[in-house]
Parts: sequence; C-alpha cells; structure tokens
Amino acid sequence: MVVFRPITPGQVSFLLGIIPVFVAWIYSEFLEYKKVSSHTKVHSDTNLVELEKETIKEDDRAVLLEGGLSRSASARLLSSSIKTNLIRFMTMDDAFLLENRATLRAMAEFGAILFYFYICDRTNLLGDSTKNYNRDLFLFLYLLLVIVSAMTSLKKHNDKSPFSGKTIQYLNRHQTEEWKGWMQVLFLMYHYFAATEIYNAIRIFIAAYVWMTGFGNFSYYYIRKDFSLPRFAQMMWRLNFFVAFCCIVLNNDYMLYYICPMHTLFTIMVYGAVGIFNKYNEIGSVMIVKILACFLVVILIWEIPGVFDIFWSPLTFILGYTDPAKPDLPRLHEWHFRSGLDRYIWIIGMIYAYYHPTAEKWMEKLEESEPKRKLSIKAGIVTVALFVGYLWYECIYKLDKVTYNKYHPYTSWIPITYVLFIFYFFSLVKHLSGSLYMMACRYS
Ligand SMILES: *[C@@H]1O[C@H](CO)[C@@H](O)[C@H](O)[C@H]1NC(C)=O
Repeated sequence: MVVFRPITPGQVSFLLGIIPVFVAWIYSEFLEYKKVSSHTKVHSDTNLVELEKETIKEDDRAVLLEGGLSRSASARLLSSSIKTNLIRFMTMDDAFLLENRATLRAMAEFGAILFYFYICDRTNLLGDSTKNYNRDLFLFLYLLLVIVSAMTSLKKHNDKSPFSGKTIQYLNRHQTEEWKGWMQVLFLMYHYFAATEIYNAIRIFIAAYVWMTGFGNFSYYYIRKDFSLPRFAQMMWRLNFFVAFCCIVLNNDYMLYYICPMHTLFTIMVYGAVGIFNKYNEIGSVMIVKILACFLVVILIWEIPGVFDIFWSPLTFILGYTDPAKPDLPRLHEWHFRSGLDRYIWIIGMIYAYYHPTAEKWMEKLEESEPKRKLSIKAGIVTVALFVGYLWYECIYKLDKVTYNKYHPYTSWIPITYVLFIFYFFSLVKHLSGSLYMMACRYS
C-alpha cells in the first residue's frame, strides 16, 4: 500500500481516538447480546424491540420539529457531567457502555466512514477511474430514485402552524426537507458523473438550497423566537462537524467543501437579522428596515471593490484556498466566488417567509372571489409568468457557464419563484382532489 501524502498529526490523533471507541462499541454489543440472551429465557424481547423502534420514531419527529435536539435530550446531556462519563468510559463501566451502545455504534460507523474515505482518497489500495457522463444513465438512475421514493415516502403529514394551530398546506417543514433531499442527490450525481451539461441547473438548485436556508431559518426564529445559544451552537455543529472531520482525516482545506461555510455564513446572517432587536419584530416597518439592512450589508461587502478582501482577510487561515490548477489567484478568490453566487437569495428567502402568510391569505381570497374575476387574474398571472420564464430561459439560462455566473446572483430568484408557483399549483390540485374525494365518500 502506498500512502500518497505524509501523515499529519490530525490523522494520527483521529486514529488514536477512534480505536478505543471501536473497542468499546464491540464490547457493548457483546454485553447487549449477553443481556438479551439471558433475558429471552424470562420473556420474549420482541416487545422491547418494538418499544425501541417507537421511541426512535418519536425522537425523529422531535428532531424534525425542533430542528435540533429535543428538549429532554439536551436536558439529559446537561445533567450528566462530562467528567464522570469520561471516567466511566475509561474504566469500561458495563452499565455505561450498555446505556450508550447506540451512541458508540454511531461513533464507530462515523469512524469507519472516514477511514474508508482515507483509504479511497489517500492510498492506492482501491483503484481509481475517470468520471464519465452518459445522459441516459444519469436520467435513468434519477428516474429510478423518483419511482422508489414515490412508493415509499408519499405520506401525508400534518404539520401544524405554531401560530394558528392550522395545518400548513404549503411549504411546510416536511416538504422543504424533502425538496432538499432531492437536490442533494442531484448534487452528488452531478459530481459523480461530472455532468457538466447541467452546470447552470445545478447552480439554480444550490441557490434554491440557500433560499431555503433563509426561508426555513427565518420562519423558525421569527415564529418561535428561540434565540438560545445552545440551540444555535448545536445547529452550527450539525452543519459543520462532518466536514471538520473530513478536513482533518483527509488533510483538506475547508473551502473544498464550500457549501458548508456558505450555509454557515448565511445561517448566521439570518440569525443576526432576526435576532438583533427582536423585541420589535412584530412591527412591520422594523422588519422592512432589517431586510433593507441585509441588502445593504451584502452590497457593501460584495459589490464594492476591495471591501470583500478587507472584511474577510482575518479569516484567510480558514477560508483561504489555493487551487493547484490556478496557483496565481488570491487565496480568498474561491470564497469570493462561492459566497458571491448566492449572496442575495437568502434575503429573498427571508422575504418570502415573511410574506408567506399574507400571500396565503391573498390566495385564499382569490379562490373565493367571483369566477370571472378569478379567471382573469389567474390568466394574467400565468401569462406574465410564462413570458418572464421564457425570457429568462432564452436570455439567461442558455448562456455559457462563465457568463451565466455573472448574472446568476441577480436572476436566480426567477426560477425559484417559478418552482414555488408550480408547488402552489400542485398543492391546489391536491387540495381540490382531496375535497372531491371527500365529497365522493359522502355521497357514496
Ligand atoms: C437553517 O439553515 C441550515 C442550513 O441550510 C439548515 O441546516 C437548518 O435546518 C435550517 N434551520 C431551519 C429551522 O430551517
């Protein structure tokens, strides 16, 4: 086996750290096995398994709703002191290992994944090959995924608005999480196959993701008013811990995983925008001023030449990157390019989140207005949308990659708004078919 790069202290520390975890996990599985086999003699443990599954489901729900650790879990974490835990771990305390078997397993899995990354990327143990793109294969695989997930994940969710207690029909947390998942698969496939022909489309999906960072975080902070530092820190950790370990184990630069610093930055910006002077968030004009202030900050840092470098230069040690293919570019070039592409779209996400209830009310009103008026308004909207969409597609989307990137920050809201329209349309159809179905049931 040939190791391609010199071993770093970080890699050695990681290895030294993960070995005891691995041993402890194996031992805890052994203890569990012993416990269960002595247990089954008394009574069947199927109930136990069922129970465990239930609690896991419950926990999942809590995570999705809270967007972090559930209250009870964080309380549990706080109440047990770190020191005694460490001692119990060192002494291989049986009860402790049994209690934390699931955590140990997760940590061992995590270690195994990183180990695998290292083997693949830094040694010649597994061979490499060049990427090749085949449109048919790409579409076929994606279609396969669509079919499989349509069969497994089309569930009805009842997300209640913490405001009104009403079910959120449109753009609720489950829908946006689902949307994010689909895009993540696309990103991976794009990189795996090097599907350069969809470069511009991928740019838009990434913008949509950043849009959702603005949308989701704004809604969360605005409605729940939970600015607590622990939750914020948890989220920062969740966003970055995997990348942090990848950087250590593979000895890579943070900027190679640019999506992470980018979302981290925009999440912090949303947190700041909603959190600063949050006492006055109920006042409409204050919110407008806040949103204008966000635009101002972005214009100041990204549009005025030279400001970006002055502002970010203290963080060059973490955000700097030198592309081996272009060693002459400044260290902050990559960060400037990546963070600049989607510099406005998170603000658009915040605006959409803020006006979401108003828009929903407006649409409800539209549905209730007299048919002729309704039809003409809808026809007007559809005509304008088609026209703008066509213009955007012809004049912007079709541009080559480099030119497209110049326009991207100012135009990415157009396709995103489009998708929202389509979503809205589908939720109307679903709504409609739902009521038709109910009527059919009532009269049959
Ligand atoms: C805030 O944004 C981050 C980054 O996209 C995301 O991981 C997180 O789930 C968002 N939080 C909420 C409540 O939407």
